[in-house]
Amino acid sequence: MISPVLILLSGFLCHVANAGRTCPQPEELPFAEVVPFKTFYLPGEQIVYSCKPGYVSRGGMRRFTCPLSGMWPINTLKCTPRVCPFAGILEHGSVRYTTFEYPNTISFTCNPGFYLNGTNSAKCTEEGKWSPELPVCVPMSCPPPPTPKFATLRVYKPSAGNNSLYRDTAVFECLPHRAMFGNDTITCTEHGNWTELPECREVKCPFPSRPDNGFVNYPAKQVLLYKDKATYGCHDTYALDGPEEVECTKLGTWSAQPSCKASCKLSVRKATVLYQGARVKLQEQFKNGMMHGDRVSFFCKNKEKKCSYTEETQCVDGTIEIPKCFKEHSSLAFWKTDAWDVKPCSEDLQTQN
Ligand SMILES: *[C@@H]1O[C@H](CO)[C@@H](O)[C@H](O)[C@H]1NC(C)=O
Ligand SMILES: *[C@@H]1O[C@H](CO)[C@@H](O)[C@H](O)[C@H]1NC(C)=O
Ligand SMILES: *[C@@H]1O[C@H](CO)[C@@H](O)[C@H](O)[C@H]1NC(C)=O
Ligand SMILES: *[C@@H]1O[C@H](CO)[C@@H](O)[C@H](O)[C@H]1NC(C)=O
Repeated sequence: MISPVLILLSGFLCHVANAGRTCPQPEELPFAEVVPFKTFYLPGEQIVYSCKPGYVSRGGMRRFTCPLSGMWPINTLKCTPRVCPFAGILEHGSVRYTTFEYPNTISFTCNPGFYLNGTNSAKCTEEGKWSPELPVCVPMSCPPPPTPKFATLRVYKPSAGNNSLYRDTAVFECLPHRAMFGNDTITCTEHGNWTELPECREVKCPFPSRPDNGFVNYPAKQVLLYKDKATYGCHDTYALDGPEEVECTKLGTWSAQPSCKASCKLSVRKATVLYQGARVKLQEQFKNGMMHGDRVSFFCKNKEKKCSYTEETQCVDGTIEIPKCFKEHSSLAFWKTDAWDVKPCSEDLQTQN
């Protein structure tokens, strides 16, 4: 027998199963979306989980049906960001990035002397591609350099078509008799221009004046210019103090101003001296006097130690000072030994005979 109460009860339970066992709003997963998305689903209704654009999962989407139990099955879907191709290296530049995943942006800078051909940042798109395309660093280039007045390009080789690249150099040369001011070498800078150009200027030198007791020769021209030369000489017993040849410098002056200096008459009649490292007889070597600038060393005696040492002196414009320690004996004092015949005080100082 079935009690009417039981019938009533089972009828109630049946109603609950049909109307009450719905599935709840499905769990939200990171980077995934549910279609259709509702607050409840009747048993038998289907939903599809899939990753949002820019994200992927192993195995693709998941499809679920709301079961009679009203409980969604456990969902293991895991969506991860798409990864764009490696972009961590930029030749002649650098890349700032955290990861190469969607939806990150990376940025670029070029080293000095290079500029970006492209944009300074790129985004990893939903499709896993860089947008816009990755840039490259290209070297700055300089147009052909202008040639300064009175100059020629001595060294120049464009390395990028008609242009030069960063750090390329060119070298100028002035036309004859023009002097260069500034650096003869220019360099293509990181700004795409050249370093400062040199200047080639005409430089005049005054006519050199004749030295006393001598002469000077120079080109028979109306003006003497940079790099022109003059040569000097002296009469007879005079010696040139300075170089024989001088040159007109870029400052408009001569490289030197030689003069003629008188030779020295010797007051000593007889002596052996050191001249250019050798022992010579003064009266023979310098029969016609000593020339300006000549140096000799006289021998002197150290009476206590009974040895000899030398002292140097020089002919300066007609004057020579004989060392005070030097003693010239009278030709009658034949018993006296000359200093140059006495053994040297120090072996070290003795020069070859
Ligand atoms: C810059 O990039 C574009 C596109 O890649 C290319 O056509 C162009 O020649 C490049 N320019 C230089 C100066 O490298
Ligand atoms: C270089 O310059 C010349 C003359 O201006 C021109 O005819 C030529 O096309 C240029 N070459 C390049 C590679 O730019
Ligand atoms: C000239 O320039 C070159 C290259 O730019 C540099 O190396 C050199 O030191 C400069 N010379 C002088 C005298 O300034
Ligand atoms: C080259 O360009 C830079 C930047 O524009 C500027 O500062 C510099 O003065 C220029 N140099 C020369 C020699 O013109």
